[in-house]
Amino acid sequence: MRDFLVAGNWKMNGNNAANAELVAGIIAGVPGGGGFSLLVCPPFPYVGAVSAQAEGSPLKVGAQNVSEHEKGAYTGEVAPAMLRDVGCEYVIVGHSERRALYGESSEQVAAKFVAAQDAGIIPILCIGETLEEREAGTTEAVVDAQLDAVLDAAGIAAFANAVIAYEPVWAIGTGMTATPEQAQDVHAHIRARLAGESEAIAGDVQILYGGSMKGENAAGLLAQPDIDGGLIGGASLKADDFLAIAQAAASLR
Ligand code: 13P
Repeated sequence: MRDFLVAGNWKMNGNNAANAELVAGIIAGVPGGGGFSLLVCPPFPYVGAVSAQAEGSPLKVGAQNVSEHEKGAYTGEVAPAMLRDVGCEYVIVGHSERRALYGESSEQVAAKFVAAQDAGIIPILCIGETLEEREAGTTEAVVDAQLDAVLDAAGIAAFANAVIAYEPVWAIGTGMTATPEQAQDVHAHIRARLAGESEAIAGDVQILYGGSMKGENAAGLLAQPDIDGGLIGGASLKADDFLAIAQAAASLR
């Protein structure tokens, strides 16, 4: 059985004082038992401080974005090795907000995925369709194209050391969660597509669901056979809300 990964994407929220309180609250309330990991992804300036605070605890730390370049004249960018240097174990790549608001292409996302892995960081690849695409019946084609860009650049073997997050754009920050069945259908499709390349890797890769996940709907989503955790925005900003999802995961393992 795959372990769950319950990951908080703080997006552009927080400050030193609030983060310290949030992290202390999460660490104090980590559910007992095994079979799940907890991760928080603060904004860049706080990754080092949160890593230092989380050291020695079960809480892992990631970032929300990374440069596809190794180093050099890229003003304003953050290199994968820098993230590693400040204690970062994971990085989100291809979040729909980066694709939509900052024009990141699937090819650029694939380059970030590869650069992160080269620096020893586990990429969390976000894929998902808009409402328009879902209504047009193109959900599978959209996630296939987003996945294929990474398969083309990195190959199936790279997914032995990566996480996928299915985040339907219409469910992000809207309170409109995908039903467990809607999410499971897409998760199963993603896994089947990877299984076409390697059954073993497809069987092991964690596929998280993201989009208005919260304590009240987490258990139903996490009980689905191909949902291996969550990538949580709004409900990751309060320790109790985040821990409610962690509890749901813990109780299913
Ligand atoms: P919400 O949980 O706020 O819908 O955000 C989901 C998300 O985008 C996580 O990356």
